[in-house]
Amino acid sequence: VKKIGVLTGGGDCPGLNAVIRAIVKSAVQKHDIAITGIEDGYDGLILPNKTRELTPFNSRGILHVGGTILGTSNRANPFKYRITVNGKTEIRDVSSEVIQKTKSLELDALIVIGGDGSLNIASHLYDMGCPVVGVPKTIDNDILFTDVSFGFSTAVQIATEMLDRLHTTAESHHRVMVMEVMGRYAGWIAVASGIAGGADVILIPEIPYDKEEICQKILRRQKKGCRSSIVVVSEGAKEIDGALCILQSAEEGGSAERLGGAGEKAGLYIKNNTGIDVRVTTLGHVQRGGTPNATDRILSTRFGAAAVKLIINNQFGRMVCLKGQDIESVPLSSVAGGQKKVPTETGLVITAEEIGVNFGRKA
Ligand code: F6P
Repeated sequence: VKKIGVLTGGGDCPGLNAVIRAIVKSAVQKHDIAITGIEDGYDGLILPNKTRELTPFNSRGILHVGGTILGTSNRANPFKYRITVNGKTEIRDVSSEVIQKTKSLELDALIVIGGDGSLNIASHLYDMGCPVVGVPKTIDNDILFTDVSFGFSTAVQIATEMLDRLHTTAESHHRVMVMEVMGRYAGWIAVASGIAGGADVILIPEIPYDKEEICQKILRRQKKGCRSSIVVVSEGAKEIDGALCILQSAEEGGSAERLGGAGEKAGLYIKNNTGIDVRVTTLGHVQRGGTPNATDRILSTRFGAAAVKLIINNQFGRMVCLKGQDIESVPLSSVAGGQKKVPTETGLVITAEEIGVNFGRKA
């Protein structure tokens, strides 16, 4: 192996640069392999002049920096690529051109650092003969077959810190403070930050909620003398028989369209049915911007180094993953297209319920 290409696809995520750094350090310094950085996700393998050599020198000082030095794109799917000619937009399959580009760049392997959309594309490219390896990235923690994806820990930490701040206003003003967090169709960020931040109610996509039940919970608290409550709402949460507040983008590999409103919806109902003052905070993209925490820096570094090892061992078409304390790998095809949901009868949800957190389950 002489040269490896690296791209980052999908939404930015704390720890991306730490993965890139680990790949460069391990490949160049330990194994004498050159690294080609591909800019703006798969766009960099489609459009001209979007590659550059990454060296330990030009990728230094990035371990703690958020975002990705390579840039990213969540609309660039080579199998359904949007091309505008004379003002008209067409969708074309440019996957063979992408394969050709990896050859003309003389890449012996390609590392795709991405979420389910980017990894799904990587899996299809592998089927077409591209020697690819995947690294699971997302704050949502919804990628199958890895206990955790990098970025999740930082997002949970940020959301928890915000809950700590909301507690003081809730207490001082005797209010219900509702906080909406990201997570797409999985409630991992909501459950983890809700437990860490002392939420009274947590609403997640995996448990469609009974709105009466959450109001009753808040009123019961009030009766006991607790004059404030904290409600964490995942952006994908919906009431029983209610509509989703986020939509999957039409493009494969595209992110969810954030229509917003899951927190607003729950907040309005609580206000109208408890008579208690309610305020809603939607955290949005602050959850995934900025510096990765130590846990994510370590996981990113382990993933980056493991991806290079897979390539050296000729193990293509695989994704590095965390299983317990160990870094392992699984076939990309087993990950592609699936989503890891929060279990509702074991694990964190049950722990939360044991300490009285309400998920709006129908009684
Ligand atoms: O997948 C990460 C994520 O931040 C989701 O939590 C959220 O639904 C989505 O991306 C937002 O995407 P965009 O940045 O394209 O609005």
